[in-house]
Amino acid sequence: MSRCERSKVTVIGAGNVGSNVAQRLVEKELCDVVLVDVVEGLPQGKALDLLESGPLQDYDSHLTGSNTYDVSENSDIIIVTAGRARKPGMSRDDLLLKNATIVRDVVEAAARQSPRAVILVVSNPLDAMCHVAMWASHFPRQRVIGMAGVLDSARLRTFIAQELGVSVESTQAFVLGGHGDTMVPMIRYSTVGGIPISELMTQERIDAIIKRTREGGAEIVQLLKTGSAFYAPSAAVAEMVESILHDERKILPCAALLQGEYGIRDLFIGVPVKLGCTGVEQVIEISLTNEEKAALQKSAASVQELVDVLKKNGFMN
Ligand SMILES: NC(=O)c1ccc[n+]([C@@H]2O[C@H](COP(=O)([O-])OP(=O)(O)OC[C@H]3O[C@@H](n4cnc5c(N)ncnc54)[C@H](O)[C@@H]3O)[C@@H](O)[C@H]2O)c1
Repeated sequence: MSRCERSKVTVIGAGNVGSNVAQRLVEKELCDVVLVDVVEGLPQGKALDLLESGPLQDYDSHLTGSNTYDVSENSDIIIVTAGRARKPGMSRDDLLLKNATIVRDVVEAAARQSPRAVILVVSNPLDAMCHVAMWASHFPRQRVIGMAGVLDSARLRTFIAQELGVSVESTQAFVLGGHGDTMVPMIRYSTVGGIPISELMTQERIDAIIKRTREGGAEIVQLLKTGSAFYAPSAAVAEMVESILHDERKILPCAALLQGEYGIRDLFIGVPVKLGCTGVEQVIEISLTNEEKAALQKSAASVQELVDVLKKNGFMN
């Protein structure tokens, strides 16, 4: 890359999540953005609208909208938000085969243009879509990462801060496992100003917070009725992009392909990783209690079920 070149990120899907991701990235001046969608005019219109916000929001990041992938060549990061979102009463898993077809096709096209990119998957069901992205791109495991844990952890932190009436900035918390009802909020590692939350609230309140975190996505789907969350998801994506492009090496909970870590093999699941310019630089293994181990295994089993369906339907090549 020449010294004058800015980082380039392609966002596939110019819907709620994709367009908000594009907005957050350019408002932070992290990179230039290419927005791609199948709907004619949609990515072009949103990219132009965001470009024209630059003089008011003081950013020079460039945005391009397209229905094809040629303009996305040599992207540093490919963000996959294409797909359908959940409707009320619909589980993330209902989306499986529909979104697998979309994710396979868009990743094949985008990876051809940017063979050295890091792929950041957002489309649901998240952990299963990470497998599709890896199979379609043939990228190594370091360069295929799923966004879920950063969002679920932000929800957990929001509820802890609300409960205690403290700043969200004082809270630390993270979530392990698949992005679904079986996720494992790590209460032992959740702190406020360094103090374990078990010192600050009753088990009953902690249980209520765990439940609300697990159902955090569904709570918003119920309220919106016509789609799913996008402000917090796009903020979570921006946090990951920043850690990669600036080589910050933040430890963030992300879906990564495990190769024996946590006793799990060949499966994407949410774990703490060190996120830097090469993607997943390290999977951090923490010690778990027997109860936490069992919860993580249960979560892994539910992801494995979806992956088996995908394999049966020929998505692994
Ligand atoms: N991982 C997470 O935590 C998380 C959080 C929120 C949403 N999501 C998921 O992200 C996805 C997007 O959600 P959304 O709210 O932005 O949905 P949306 O419906 O607003 O946007 C999806 C966009 O994808 C586009 N698209 C469909 N097929 C395409 C293709 N083949 N090529 C290019 N673009 C295509 C659509 O035209 C649409 O503009 C959903 O699968 C949703 O479940 C995941």
